[in-house]
This record gives sequence, C-alpha cells and structure tokens, in this order.
Amino acid sequence: GIGLGSDGRPVIGIIGGSGVYDIPGLTDIGWRRISSPFGAPSDELMFGRLGDVQLVFLPRHGRGHVHAPSDLNYRANVDAMKRAGVTEILSVSAVGSLKEDLPPGTFVIVDDFIDRTFAREKSFFTKGCVAHVSMAHPVCRRLGDAVEAAGQRLGLDIRRGGTYIAMEGPQFSTLAESKLYRSWGASVIGMTNMPEAKLAREAELCYATVAMVTDFDCWHPEHDKVTVEQVVKVLLGNADHARALVKEVAPALADRREPCHAGCHTALDHALITAPEK
Ligand code: ADE
Repeated sequence: GIGLGSDGRPVIGIIGGSGVYDIPGLTDIGWRRISSPFGAPSDELMFGRLGDVQLVFLPRHGRGHVHAPSDLNYRANVDAMKRAGVTEILSVSAVGSLKEDLPPGTFVIVDDFIDRTFAREKSFFTKGCVAHVSMAHPVCRRLGDAVEAAGQRLGLDIRRGGTYIAMEGPQFSTLAESKLYRSWGASVIGMTNMPEAKLAREAELCYATVAMVTDFDCWHPEHDKVTVEQVVKVLLGNADHARALVKEVAPALADRREPCHAGCHTALDHALITAPEK
C-alpha cells in the first residue's frame, strides 16, 4: 500500500503517556473503542484534529497508568492503530539515560534498538503464516527527520540517533546490568518500545521513537539510583515539550501524498515465506 488514509492523507498516530494527548488546539475530540482479533488494546483510542491534520492517540499504559509494560497487549495496540487508519506511529516514551551527555530532560530520536524483552507476544505472523521482516533499520528516517526539524524549531534539547535497550521490567536494572548495557554502547533504556517497533514494521507502519530522558538509571556515580518519584517529576516537565513537539511535527507530516520513501509501507513485500493457499 502507499500508507495514506482514506482521504489520501497521512493519519498520525501517537503512542505515549498521559499528558501527551492533552494538546491545546486539538478539536473534534472523541474516544472510540477499537476491537482487534489480537485482544484488547490498552485503552480506547482518542481521535482529534489539529487544523486539517488527523491525529489518533493511544495511552500506552491506559488512562490512569493501569497496565504494566509486560502486561501490555502490543499486538492489539498496533493492530488497533492500523485499523483506525493510522499511517505513521510516533512513540513518545520515558527512558533512563546510559550516557553522561544525555541528562534528564534531553529528547533522543533513537535509531536502533536492542530487544531484551522475553515475556511478550512479538509477531502478528504465527499459526500458519510465517514472515520475516527486516529490522536492520528499525525506525523510519523520514519521521525522524521531521521530528528533528520540529524539535530544533522549538529550541528543544533534541538529539538524533542512539540505541534504545528494551528491558522486560517491571523492576529497574541492577548495577551490573546497567554497566553491561553501557558497555554495549546503548544510549537509553526503557520497557515498552519493543516489541512495538517490530509490530509496527510488520504492520507496514512508519515508526519513530522520541525517547524523553527522566533519569540516569543507576550507573551514574553522582546521581542517586532511579526512583519512580524522580521519573514522574522529570516526566511532567518533559510532557510540556512532548505536547509542543507533537503539535509542531504533525502539520509537517501531513503533506505527504506518496509512499514513505524509507520503504516502511512495503516491509512485507519480500518477507512472507509461507506459500499462499491453493
Ligand atoms: N523508564 C524511565 N527510566 C527508566 C529506567 N531507568 N529504566 C527502564 N525504564 C525506564
């Protein structure tokens, strides 16, 4: 497909925490339950418009933050977005920092992942239909370009590139784990963006992550070990920037009339291996 909505325009999906969908200027707001054969998404989807740009929000942990990272139905979430007509997904996620020069408050447009999760359904292709999509370049560089430009226009401390370690959780890392991930060269750590990114690729949706640093995890000698209080405190400041960023980037993404030049909308073309039924 060419990955455009029914009116021939992009529909921008945002998966993120509460706060991110509270955008001033958003009109025609409505929450709708979208059902999926893969089960129940985290919450209803919130539809809205910014001018003539269609946006669809999914609170990743549900309103009120009721679902833990390991309990999220990632397949239902991505499938519901696809069924809602979403053509590109922007993931807005809180992360810990594994690098000295990425202090709390920094935004990182990650471009790679290490998937260390192990207790989640990770593929739409099970039971009689096998596909192996490429994850060599797991995020959409066109989305990344747009987010980077929007962040710079807003004067945010936003960095391009970095590897996101996805850990199972819900406990934070041990010191030895944190040091190990640093030795692997990873930039940030979180609990949710895998398998989300894999599923978005299987669904032929563009996907990009804006990782918002809330803490230095536990490796940093001059900072206390990470606590939920610290994460939430920095998160609230980050949420203002995240809302501004979504508002700034949406119109820039809405002008597309062609398939994504990064190839996100054709990811399955050479991935299916099961013979079609006769
Ligand atoms: N989310 C926010 N901070 C985190 C950390 N230090 N580790 C894992 N996930 C996080």
